[in-house]
Amino acid sequence: MRILGISAHYHDSAATLLVDGMPVCAVQEERLSRHKNDASFPIAAIEWCLERGGLGPDELDAVVFYEKPMLKFERILTMALRGFPRTWHSFPRAMKNALGGKLWIKGIISSQLGVRANRILFAEHHQSHAAAAFLTAPTRRAAILTADGVGEWTTLSLGRGSVDDSGAVTLELLRELRFPHSLGMLYSTFTAYLGFPINEGEYKVMGLASYGKPTFEPQVRKMVRRTADGALVLDLSYFEFHEGARRSFSDRFITELGPPRDPLEPIDLATPEGARYADIAASVQRVLEDILVDLARSLKRETGLDDLCLGGGVALNGCANARILRESGFRNVYVPCAPGDAGCALGAALVADRLHFRQPHQEVPDHPYWGPQIDAQELSRVASEDGLELEELPRESELIDRVASELVRGRIVGWMQGSTELGPRALGNRSVLAAPHSVRMRDKLNRSIKYREEFRPFAPAVPIEHAERFFELPPGGARLGRFMSGVFPVRREWHDRLAAVTHVDGTARVQTVDRKMAPRFHALLEAYGALTGIPVLLNTSFNLAGEPIVNRAVEGYSTFRRSGIDLLVAGQAVVSKPRAAQVAPEAVA
Ligand SMILES: [Fe+2]
Repeated sequence: MRILGISAHYHDSAATLLVDGMPVCAVQEERLSRHKNDASFPIAAIEWCLERGGLGPDELDAVVFYEKPMLKFERILTMALRGFPRTWHSFPRAMKNALGGKLWIKGIISSQLGVRANRILFAEHHQSHAAAAFLTAPTRRAAILTADGVGEWTTLSLGRGSVDDSGAVTLELLRELRFPHSLGMLYSTFTAYLGFPINEGEYKVMGLASYGKPTFEPQVRKMVRRTADGALVLDLSYFEFHEGARRSFSDRFITELGPPRDPLEPIDLATPEGARYADIAASVQRVLEDILVDLARSLKRETGLDDLCLGGGVALNGCANARILRESGFRNVYVPCAPGDAGCALGAALVADRLHFRQPHQEVPDHPYWGPQIDAQELSRVASEDGLELEELPRESELIDRVASELVRGRIVGWMQGSTELGPRALGNRSVLAAPHSVRMRDKLNRSIKYREEFRPFAPAVPIEHAERFFELPPGGARLGRFMSGVFPVRREWHDRLAAVTHVDGTARVQTVDRKMAPRFHALLEAYGALTGIPVLLNTSFNLAGEPIVNRAVEGYSTFRRSGIDLLVAGQAVVSKPRAAQVAPEAVA
């Protein structure tokens, strides 16, 4: 059975190919189109998936879209009618923004791909999130919690999944929360209020939260009220997103919290205004975490299961995930590499295969590397055209030792290996790596590569075997770190020597690297540890601000040329800048 999964038209379009129950490949459109967060119909991703699978569109048994457009249309229409006449003017724009081409998706898929309409299926949005979380996790029975802004109507779902001995899959929905009551929209509204772009700036709110105290918690709690049955409702007088307004928060919201931040104004944490933004971020983060922990606890009580799978964009909140693991009673918390909408392409394909066609479940390989492979030859071509010398280091140990010693010297390394990651995190295949020890390195990266706000922390990567030595991981924490899904305390005695990756509150979003999943990256960390005594590297995504993560070697090369990266590695090929062009190295502590 050959199934193509698609997510599109909202945020992070992507495509996945599933053949005989196993993913063959998956990629986000942005990695190919080079438009960050590309939400258009993912024609390049689809073409690449089909080419990778050696299939024509006519050979597909099904194409499955990650949500049901008619249900979404119904929701937007209903909300517009409820708000009439206030919504009269915003309705056409809301329709266009929220639906885009989605309502006609069957026609688009059919005409763009030449696939017969009767082969086009639709999964429900949160079912796609749930499948992406549960059916890629190494478990056969788990509770499932999904939370995002909104899909069709659902904004949060609690359920459970199981795989029986014959491989039959059951996904059971226990409870759901419906639009406009939404934890994702609550957080996104604060994201917009704090002057960051919705759907992109949420992690900045989380970063900023660490600088503040939750002094506005009472005000936030007025906006989101818990109900006797354990659900929650937003007090809609504080919000305007449900009315299709340009602004997602209301005048009352401003009366409660003060004026919103101008996105063009830099945040200065030393000023009372800057401190107020940080306190507001800390307050919404606290409320979000408390509610998620409480919902997860209730799910634990109800199901009695050991494992919890988290899906939806809210599962990108590593601080909340870590608290859920520590406080909910679940032994394991699994977050897939792409819990957001990009991962829904894979989730929808799995829904079609396991539930619609009732194919027996097979365990999905436990890694994030589903995209295009790196081509070292391509790097060799562009570097030689540019007159830069390229070294081939065919012996694995030679490559690893060379890169490790450059990192020890304080060089910044662009590291491209194997297949591109699915999801928003660079997990060692398209990463920028650097020594994690000094604040100067963090500042240098911010200055010469990432050009980003100082309050956003960089993440460390560590071999899973050594993780406990540096980080305070609760039971199950190492697993949550597999795809960088949890934020954990850095052990006090390492703060000074891991200063570039330790956030202001003493935490880090650690990646625990499994040798089996990423052998070369693991070997590099070990080699760096052998030289410095600290097998930890700073790992940040390989891209410049505003650009998607690099995919091909030529994109890595272009980024290398335009930034302060000193050394570029693609497979076993190494290019370094002429000495004169290099920034002075940082001494390693
Ligand atoms: Fe979603």
